[in-house]
Amino acid sequence: MNRKYRKTVIAGNWKMNQLCSGVKPFIEQLREAMPRTKTCEVVLCTPALMIPAMVRAGKDARVAAGGQDVSKYEKGAYTGEISADMLLDAGAKYCIVGHSERREYHHESDSLINEKAKALLAKGITPIICVGESLEQREKDLTMEYIAYQVCAALSGIDGTQVRRCIIAYEPIWAIGTGKTATAEQAQEVCEFIRGVIRKLYGARSARAVSILYGGSMNAKNAAELLSMPDIDGGLIGGASLKPADFAAIIAATAQE
Ligand code: PGA
Repeated sequence: MNRKYRKTVIAGNWKMNQLCSGVKPFIEQLREAMPRTKTCEVVLCTPALMIPAMVRAGKDARVAAGGQDVSKYEKGAYTGEISADMLLDAGAKYCIVGHSERREYHHESDSLINEKAKALLAKGITPIICVGESLEQREKDLTMEYIAYQVCAALSGIDGTQVRRCIIAYEPIWAIGTGKTATAEQAQEVCEFIRGVIRKLYGARSARAVSILYGGSMNAKNAAELLSMPDIDGGLIGGASLKPADFAAIIAATAQE
């Protein structure tokens, strides 16, 4: 983390878990367990239906609401889609785009992810843009090449002011939901590399202002070590964000100097 230049962000990704009725009790338990922090932005990215409940419950607990996906379209005949305006209206401040599960199961392309990020920026919602290599790419030593491609594609046409409002989440696919975390050194190496890619595109000032998160089996035990790395500014947390005590412990791990 480097709090001098950028925000520390701990974002939970509930995926397709929980119910609207579970939001308030979850936040009450989280609030009991989590430290009061002004230096860490806490976000829970839920299914869109739960955003209003999260906004209500999260207000006093200082937990911001986020979505997990958005339509690239502004409005119209797109059955089943949720627009950036709707997310904003519901109270979302953040939204994940390009999660590997959407890339894989919904065949989302890099150019679609870029359009979704732009749709969010246009409405003042912070996109949490996910990138990450497969195990096969890592084993073939293609990690950096692939990550550079994904970052450049996701940021295409986004200007230097807007990029500072983006968050990048590095999530190696082999570490998501597998219990196999990247070592702090592996995660730092790629997050530092991502910052380098942003520096080449936008210059040093923008690069140092962008928060870069690590995601992939981050938990209460390994969070402190990952967060001690200079280019890891927080986490995108799946499984452990469904347990208030574990999520609170990860938030507490940001309190280190
Ligand atoms: P995980 O998921 O923490 O359960 O590995 C992370 C993510 O998919 O964002």
